[in-house]
Amino acid sequence: MKNNHNSNQNQMISLFKLFNAPLHLSNLLSLILFFAFGLCFGIILTFHLKNVSFNLQFTQFSLSTTTNTAVPADVITTPQTTPPPPKVGLGSYLNPPELMHDMTDEELIWRASMIPKVRDYPFERIPKVAFMFLTRGPVVLSPLWDKFFKGNEGLYTIYVHSSDSAANETEPEDSVFHGRRIPSKDVEWGKVNMIEAERRLLANALMDFTNQRFILLSEACIPLFNFSTVYSYLTNSKNNFVESYDLEGPVGRGRYSPNMAPVVDIEDWRKGSQWFEMDRELAIEVISDKMYFSVFHDFCDGQCYADEHYLPTFVTKHFGEKNSNRTLTFVDWAKGGPHPTKYTRNDVTEEFLEKLRDDKSCEYNGKKNQICHLFARKFTSHALDRLLRIAPKLMQFNDL
Ligand SMILES: *[C@@H]1O[C@H](CO)[C@@H](O)[C@H](O)[C@H]1NC(C)=O
Ligand SMILES: *[C@@H]1O[C@H](CO)[C@@H](O)[C@H](O)[C@H]1NC(C)=O
Ligand SMILES: *[C@@H]1O[C@H](CO)[C@@H](O)[C@H](O)[C@H]1NC(C)=O
Repeated sequence: MKNNHNSNQNQMISLFKLFNAPLHLSNLLSLILFFAFGLCFGIILTFHLKNVSFNLQFTQFSLSTTTNTAVPADVITTPQTTPPPPKVGLGSYLNPPELMHDMTDEELIWRASMIPKVRDYPFERIPKVAFMFLTRGPVVLSPLWDKFFKGNEGLYTIYVHSSDSAANETEPEDSVFHGRRIPSKDVEWGKVNMIEAERRLLANALMDFTNQRFILLSEACIPLFNFSTVYSYLTNSKNNFVESYDLEGPVGRGRYSPNMAPVVDIEDWRKGSQWFEMDRELAIEVISDKMYFSVFHDFCDGQCYADEHYLPTFVTKHFGEKNSNRTLTFVDWAKGGPHPTKYTRNDVTEEFLEKLRDDKSCEYNGKKNQICHLFARKFTSHALDRLLRIAPKLMQFNDL
């Protein structure tokens, strides 16, 4: 007890001494250290208290807002980590909108007709081929096309215009056609609304900046070569494939109406298959055309078969030089009559398909004796089994 008291007294004395002692260097250092320690402690304490009060405020805020169900949960549970601001890039512009959009035809075409003035793309652009199916109902030969496309993801896009809304649900989920239907309207064969459907397909496909070539097909079309052959044929071509020729007689010039002058004169009138293939530049011109389209709309409906005349006439008049004037889709009109030959189960043999592939009497990029047709029609759903058995092997599809 006494010792304790003594030692306390001693401490007091030494402290007293410290303050009163002459200012030695060591004493000064001790003082400075003491002061610095106090300062640090004070600063840390202040910050700590601030945090506490901030947290308190925040908890109060959360408590008061938990009753408000409209506040998203993450706002409440992650108060300290402020989320990084959303990236503002090209994404929203480059990603095409949902296929089932709500745009009117007029809005769609306006949006799709935009051309970047800067010609080089600021990103790596692998050109795609847009396969546009203009169908009445479901794509009945889709199992064959599924095999054709397999393993080539990233090089193609698919669009289906089908007036039958039930076609919406018939494509199985693992098919490349699943969910690829665009907002479609009724199409009457031979009528001008067929051209509207073609323009609708083009406009939807144009909204994907990576689409470079555009091919129109029907549910009765089949491929004649594997994907890699088709892809390189199309993406390396310097030409468009819009069939166009001048034909005398009732099914040619006979369908011309003098009311179309002066926009379309009889010398401008052309005929050709509706199944076209074209590049991006021409596709934009086609959807942007109002002058020719309105003339055909007014004076070429019904027995005039606008789908066989509008594109050949328009393309030849303004973009003829780059056109091959032939179609890539084989069809047999030899039997005569208003409809071409239909191929069904028994027609599909290896020899028959080889014969279609073998036509090499065409010019391609200025070279003669090249492949003429990449596709063929008209095949019925009854031909599917045989096609599935023969075509993938014959045409060397990717067997993944
Ligand atoms: C398309 O299918 C969806 C369901 O997958 C359905 O809700 C929608 O009504 C269908 N559209 C038409 C036009 O039938
Ligand atoms: C296609 O027709 C247009 C217009 O008549 C012509 O300028 C062009 O050279 C033709 N193309 C070929 C490959 O013959
Ligand atoms: C596609 O077919 C051609 C012959 O037409 C063949 O040379 C090529 O290897 C085939 N491609 C693939 C990926 O199988």
